[in-house]
Amino acid sequence: MTAAKAAMDGVIVSQPVAAPLTRSAIFLVVTINPGPDNRAAVRSFCADLPALFRAVEFRNLEAGLTCVMGIGSAAWDRLFGQPRPAELHSFREIRAGSRHAVSSPGDLLFHIRAKRTDLCFELAAGIMASLGEAVCAVDEVHGFRYFDDRDLLGFVDGTENPRGPEVTEAAIIGAEDPAFAGGSYVIVQKYLHDMDAWNALSTEAQERIIGRAKLSDIELDDSIKPTSAHNALTTITENGRELKILRDNMPFGNVAAGEFGTYFIGYCRTPRVIEQMIENMFVGRPPGNYDRLLDFSRAVTGTLFFAPSATFLESVNEDDATAAPPVAAPMAEPAPSTTAASDGSLGIGSLKGENRHE
Ligand code: HEM
Repeated sequence: MTAAKAAMDGVIVSQPVAAPLTRSAIFLVVTINPGPDNRAAVRSFCADLPALFRAVEFRNLEAGLTCVMGIGSAAWDRLFGQPRPAELHSFREIRAGSRHAVSSPGDLLFHIRAKRTDLCFELAAGIMASLGEAVCAVDEVHGFRYFDDRDLLGFVDGTENPRGPEVTEAAIIGAEDPAFAGGSYVIVQKYLHDMDAWNALSTEAQERIIGRAKLSDIELDDSIKPTSAHNALTTITENGRELKILRDNMPFGNVAAGEFGTYFIGYCRTPRVIEQMIENMFVGRPPGNYDRLLDFSRAVTGTLFFAPSATFLESVNEDDATAAPPVAAPMAEPAPSTTAASDGSLGIGSLKGENRHE
């Protein structure tokens, strides 16, 4: 069902946030140039994107092409004004010791995935041609799958991602923000690795940093896994329940430039879970007990976006330069609060997947 048809039926369709792992991806981040014409061009593009997508997708349906469009906080205000997603804000930089989670510019994100690079490339080119002078590209990363879903550090990446119904539960907004149900928050960070320093470590030392065995991908036993291990610091439990995010990291690189990296991308129904993980990694839990992965990996970008539902994007009215598009009707269920709980917890322990999107 297309998002337009679904909207007529009163159903909210999410963007393909939960698309399966693919062999290729392009991460494209652009800023919108100043001026009302550029604003109008981007609004009009929102409604045109599905047709552009279908034209590329149809050239090889088996390739599983998907595209998720995210919108940054300042761009949201400029494009749509009120109402705005409850937790949308700019990425907050973190400095701790020599570690720096930078905050970098970005108004629009395009997360393009397919089994084949040519389709990703074709869609990225079509998007840039369609946006034309309205935008300026600030970053473009071409990711690839590396052997058994490993990152360039040699570890399998993605094992503990949520699966099945857990994906919606983790990544898709439900009744807590009814106007933006079906949407998702997305944080991207581009990391560059110091491969010489990493390769100088023993396999056992690397395994203690990641928290899993390198060859078998089996989690280290708690008796030998340090509390600073990457998978320990990124595990967050609240009220006895683990708070999950959906990741689709991709290796990328440029051999001639000596660039070896991991493009981190995480989706969640609230940015607070991803932000807490980043804080645990950079500051440490407790402070000082930081993620040693950061002794070998440097974040060179960091941006937070909101990926509205496909229904929302398709309903953007290019002629109406002042008003926001119609928002989703409130859910029947009362909305559980997702504002930070007074006990200092992330306060999302009671969320249930109550979405009606597909
Ligand atoms: C240099 C960048 C990164 C690399 C190379 C990396 C690599 C890995 C690897 C190899 C694993 C273990 C396998 C798995 O469960 O996927 C893992 C787990 C995980 N990572 Fe990362 N990661 C990076 C950045 C991040 C960031 C920035 C976050 C969060 C903001 C994050 C969140 C997680 C989570 C939630 C898990 C699963 C933990 C568990 O439940 O066991 N990672 N990562």
